[in-house]
Order: sequence, then C-alpha cells, then structure tokens
Amino acid sequence: MKIAIIGAGNVGAMVASRVIDADLADVVLVDIVPGMAKGKALDISDVRPIVNSSANIIGTENFEGIKGSDIVVITAGLARKPGMSRDDLLKKNSDIIKKVSVQIKKYCPSSIVIVVTNPLDVMSYLVMKTTGFDPKKVIGMAGVLDSARFTNALRGKNQDIGQDNVLMMGSHGDTMVPINRSENISEKVFSEASELARNRGAEIVKHLGAGSAYFAPSASVFFMLKAIIKNEKKTMCVSAYLEGQYSEKDIYIGVPVTLASQGIEKIIEIGLTEEEKQAFKESACQIRESISKTF
Ligand code: APR
Repeated sequence: MKIAIIGAGNVGAMVASRVIDADLADVVLVDIVPGMAKGKALDISDVRPIVNSSANIIGTENFEGIKGSDIVVITAGLARKPGMSRDDLLKKNSDIIKKVSVQIKKYCPSSIVIVVTNPLDVMSYLVMKTTGFDPKKVIGMAGVLDSARFTNALRGKNQDIGQDNVLMMGSHGDTMVPINRSENISEKVFSEASELARNRGAEIVKHLGAGSAYFAPSASVFFMLKAIIKNEKKTMCVSAYLEGQYSEKDIYIGVPVTLASQGIEKIIEIGLTEEEKQAFKESACQIRESISKTF
C-alpha cells in the first residue's frame, strides 16, 4: 500500500509521520519547495527503528514519484493567516489544486483522493471535476475534525458525550451545521459548544500568528486513511459529492458516510429537523456561491 502526500508542510508532514509511526503504509511526500519533502522524509524515516516500523518514506519535488499510489492526500496550498477566512484562500488554492489534480490523474488514475486544502468543500469539488474520478473516490477531510472539535468542546463543558451523539455537517466554514442526537445536552451548552467548534480553526490561527492547525487535522486524515486501508466500514462525517441526498446535488458538503476500501461505501441520510434542514440548505448555498467563483 502506497500513500502519496502532496504538500510537505505542517499537515502533510504530520500525516506522513503518523502513517510511518503506525506502520500503516509506504509514503511518498511531495512539495514544490526544493529539499523540503526530502529533508522531512529523511527525518521521519529515522523514527522507524524507534517505533519498530518497516514502512518506507521518500520525499521528492517530482510528481512522477507518486506513480502507482493507492491513496493520495492533498495538503498543498496556502494556509490561513490571521484575519483571513477560508474563502480568501479560494483563488490561490484553486490554481494549485487544478495543477495537482492533473498530476494525480496522470500518475495515479485509480487512486482514492483525500482533500485537505481549504476552502475544503470547493477544493474537493474541483479535484473531482478536474480528475474526472468517481466521486466516491474523492473525499474531503473536514467533518471528522469539526465533529471532534465539537465533541471536545462539549466535554470541556463536562458533558459526558460519545462521538456518535453529535456531528458537524454542512460546510467546513462559518455555516457548518451542528447536529445533536443526545438528550442530555441543554440548548445553551449545545449552542456554546457549537460556537467554540465553529471558531476553533480561527482561534488557533490567531494564537499561532503564522500557519494554522495541524495536529487534529492530521489525526483526522489518519483516521480516514486507516478506515480505507483496513476496510473498516466506519461511519464518519466527510465532505462528499451529493447526487440528490439531503435534497442537494452536484455539490461537495459535509455528511455522514461509511468509509471502506473503495472510498465512500454509502452516504448515510439521517433525519434532520426543520431547523437543521434550513441550516444545511444555507450552508449548501454558501458552498455553491464559492464554487461559482472558481469555474
Ligand atoms: N505542489 C506541491 N506542494 C505545494 C504546491 C504544489 N503545487 N503548492 C504549495 N505547496 C506546498 C507548500 O510549499 C507548503 O509546504 O504545500 C505546503 C502547505 O503547507 P503549509 O503551508 O504548512 O500548510 P498546512 O498547515 O500544511 O495546511 C495545508 O490544509 O488545513 C488546510 O488550510 C490549510 O489549505 C491549507 C492546507
């Protein structure tokens, strides 16, 4: 099993490190900055005797290195700077993502692609359209992260909550849609925790001053990679292509799915309240608006 990780920055390198630590698959790390992927790959490879991993890792500036990869993770792009919204990144990252998609189509035509670059839902759509891949094989990483942030915020408020009771659906942006299926959470705690989760990315960016979150994002990608490689058929929220589900079509947006060896095995349609339906619709509208700026 070979995983290509495009972009050897904070998220990409951390995903590579997690994969090698867990002996999950071989990795090729690619970055346009000369020496960056090579240097980080050498450093990560030296961890193997310590953690007893036999997985291989190489770094390169040359896209030919991704040839034959089973899964490609795209983290290439610019990260948010303080005060910058995910949409501000739209123009710059679309150009990068189009170029990267052409290389993926050329060298890994049968791969599953996990998109991490923001604005996530739009970039996932762009990858699917540019590669022409089956939408079940182009998956955006957002819901795992946003749901984890939401659960973490609730636990911070002393709510003993299982990750299955709450979800974040909708866009990976300001219009994300919190879903509560636990009877123990008060309206007040729910809305405070949703707000915390919604603003978590920006809060981290503000503290860091330069760069954005990468520990939880890389853990979320790893969770998805494991579900695919081990054919776990696990349910999780991802950005997926809808073809009529939730009354939406021709859009990437966060919904629960089961993830297995072929990518998205099934999009799960949970029943939504009228309020949730409305919020989901608004979120879809916002993503569509961004998509229209890209095409
Ligand atoms: N091909 C390969 N690598 C590229 C390309 C390209 N065309 N363009 C940019 N890169 C590389 C950069 O050189 C950089 O090393 O992508 C890397 C991005 O790394 P960081 O700037 O550290 O960003 P990171 O924190 O990893 O976030 C990456 O994920 O969470 C999202 O919003 C975030 O869109 C951002 C992405």
